Amino acid sequence: MYKLVIHGGKPLHGSIKSAGSKNSSLPILFASILADGPITLNNTPQLSDISTTLRLLMSMGADFILESDSSLFVDSSKLDNLVADYNLVKTMRASILVLGPMLARYGKSKVSLPGGCAIGTRPVDLHLKALEELNAKIEVKNGYIYAQTDGLIGSDIYFERVTVTATENIIMAAVLAKGITTINNAAQEPEISDLCNCLNKMGAKISGIGSLIITIEGVEKLHGVQYSVCSDRIEIATYLVAAAITGGSITVKNANPQVMHSVLRKLVEIGADIKIENESISLDMKGRRPKAINIKTGTYPNFPTDMQAQFTALNAIAEGRSSITENIFENRFMHIPELIRMGADLVLEGNTVVCKGVKSLTGAHVMATDLRASASLVLAGLAATGKTVIERVYHLDRGYETIEEKLKSLGADIERVQD
Ligand code: UD1
Repeated sequence: MYKLVIHGGKPLHGSIKSAGSKNSSLPILFASILADGPITLNNTPQLSDISTTLRLLMSMGADFILESDSSLFVDSSKLDNLVADYNLVKTMRASILVLGPMLARYGKSKVSLPGGCAIGTRPVDLHLKALEELNAKIEVKNGYIYAQTDGLIGSDIYFERVTVTATENIIMAAVLAKGITTINNAAQEPEISDLCNCLNKMGAKISGIGSLIITIEGVEKLHGVQYSVCSDRIEIATYLVAAAITGGSITVKNANPQVMHSVLRKLVEIGADIKIENESISLDMKGRRPKAINIKTGTYPNFPTDMQAQFTALNAIAEGRSSITENIFENRFMHIPELIRMGADLVLEGNTVVCKGVKSLTGAHVMATDLRASASLVLAGLAATGKTVIERVYHLDRGYETIEEKLKSLGADIERVQD
C-alpha cells in the first residue's frame, strides 16, 4: 500500500494543466454501450475510476485501446455479457451508469447494487423508479438489480430530489426509447451537459441541456464519435485551494471558469486575488492568511459538495470563525476527526462544521477515507508545520491524476512511498 509523505509549510507557486473531468468521462464511457460503433474519447484523465470503468466494460465484452495518455478508443458496440458484477461495482458507485444504456440497447441487464459508502447510504431508488416509468421491469434480489424491458417508452419523469447520476442514467436510457421523454427537476451539473453534447454528436436528440427540464426525443440508433471531455472543475478548484492554503500563487490552465462561479466567489471572499484569462485561472494569496468564510453545499450552480472537505481544511487555518453546512450527503465528514488530529478546531453540529481558525496546523499520521476527504488531508498537510503521512492513497488515485507530481511541480515537498 502506498502512503503520501508531506513536509508542509511551503507556499505553492507555478503553473499546471488540469486533467479532463472524471465525472464527465465516466458517463460518456458508459454511453459507448449505446453506439453501434467505437468511440474515441480525448482529454480523459488517468485515474483508477477510469480503469475500473474500462474493466467493467471489458468484462461485458467491450474492447479498448489506450491511444495516448489521455485518449481512449472504446468499442462497446457488441456486448455479450449483460452483467455488471459485484466485484467491480463495489469499488465504484458510478457503475450504476451501465443500467440505462444496457436497457436501452439490449433490453435487459443485471447490475450489482452499489451499496453504501463512506459518505452516506447513497440509495439508487430514484434511478430505478424513473427507469420503471420508461417501461422497464425491475426486480432487486440477492444484491442485484434485474432489469428488462420489451422496449423503453418515453415518459414524463419528475425527480423528487436532484440527482446527478440518475439524471444521466435516464438520459442514456431515453435516447433510444420510443417517443419523447421529459426529465423535470434534472440535475444541471456541467458534466451532464458534456454527456448530452456527446450523445447529440452520436445522433441523439436532446434539448434543454443544462436546464432543469431536459427533453429527449428517442432515435433508432446512435453512432460512434470522437469527443473531447471538459476539464475537471473539482480538480482545478482543489489546486486553487492548495495555493490559497499555503499562501502561494498558481495558474491552472485548461480550465472553464464559466462553470466555477460558486467556488471562485468563495476564493475571492477568503482574500485571494483571482484572475481569469481565456482558459486559465490564476490565484494569488500574496502570502496573506485566508479569511474564514461560511459555506452551504448545494446542487449546481451552488457550491459543490465535492469541494466541502477542501474548504474545511482552508477554514481550519483561516482567520476567524466559520461554518460549513453539507446539504447533499448525510455523512460526508470523515475528514473532520483527522483534521482535528492535525490541530484544527472543528466541532460537528448536525450537518454543520463549526470552525474556529487556528494559526497553523501540525503534521500528523492520518488516514484517507474517501476521495475528497483525502484531498482535504493533502491540503492540510501542505499547510501544516512538520511531517504529515497520509495512508490509503488509493482513494486519491480515483479522482486526482498524478497528484504528487503536479504538487511537486508547484514546489511542494511530497513523496509517494510504499509500505
Ligand atoms: C454525483 C458525483 C459526485 C457528487 C454528487 C453530488 C459522479 C460520478 N459522481 O454522485 O462526485 O458528489 O453527484 O454532486 O458524477 N439519492 C437518492 N436516491 C437516488 C440517487 C440519489 O436518495 O436514487 C440521494 C443521494 O444519496 C444524495 C443525493 O441524492 O444524498 C444526491 O446524490 P447524487 O446527485 O445522485 O450523487 P451521485 O450521482 O451518486
